[in-house]
Amino acid sequence: MHITSLSASPSEHSRSAWLTQFALTRLAGRGSQTVAILVRDLPAAGLLTADVQEPAIAAAVRAIEQADLVVVGTPIYKAAYSGLLKVFLDLLPPDALRDKLVLPLATGGSPAHFLALDYALKPVLSALGARHVLDGVFATDAQLRRHESGGFLPEPDLIARLDRALAPLSSRMRAQPEPALSC
Ligand SMILES: Cc1cc2nc3c(=O)[nH]c(=O)nc-3n(C[C@H](O)[C@H](O)[C@H](O)COP(=O)(O)O)c2cc1C
Repeated sequence: MHITSLSASPSEHSRSAWLTQFALTRLAGRGSQTVAILVRDLPAAGLLTADVQEPAIAAAVRAIEQADLVVVGTPIYKAAYSGLLKVFLDLLPPDALRDKLVLPLATGGSPAHFLALDYALKPVLSALGARHVLDGVFATDAQLRRHESGGFLPEPDLIARLDRALAPLSSRMRAQPEPALSC
């Protein structure tokens, strides 16, 4: 299974990017190949002009196209997903997410916006063809506290919700062993 993660926070020390990476570690060792896209690292001019010929942006779009599972991580900004995420999603071809599994993840300062994945992001994923969207996982900043190591410390309840969202993938990954490498 090919997995592409898309992290769309402008912050360098991003909670939502950390949660996205953490989700990948929960899948590690289950035969997956992973590409991580940090939208903040893509060339700003190319993003703003939707330049899909720009090499880094073209590679990111290709990584989405090649994925079986796309993990989308965003901070909640102004009661919705980040503008950075929308800029990238707007670059994608129509139906870019058809026949893919999608896992939406978000972090937000307030539990008041835990439905933002449902009312704001899911319609956009649907417009891109996604028909197999796993349970979204929303974490408040309080559930993902900063750790002295520079990372974050997820609450047990958050880990449980993440594992529940990922559970449908287990049977798929077992059913698709990695092909043997030949040289
Ligand atoms: C410009 C801005 C707007 C925000 N708006 C909201 C909001 O509407 N609702 C909310 O719950 N949190 C809001 N937050 C808090 C962030 O969503 C939260 O701290 C999140 O974990 C940040 O993720 P990141 O570190 O990946 O950027 C906002 C933060 C910023 C900087």
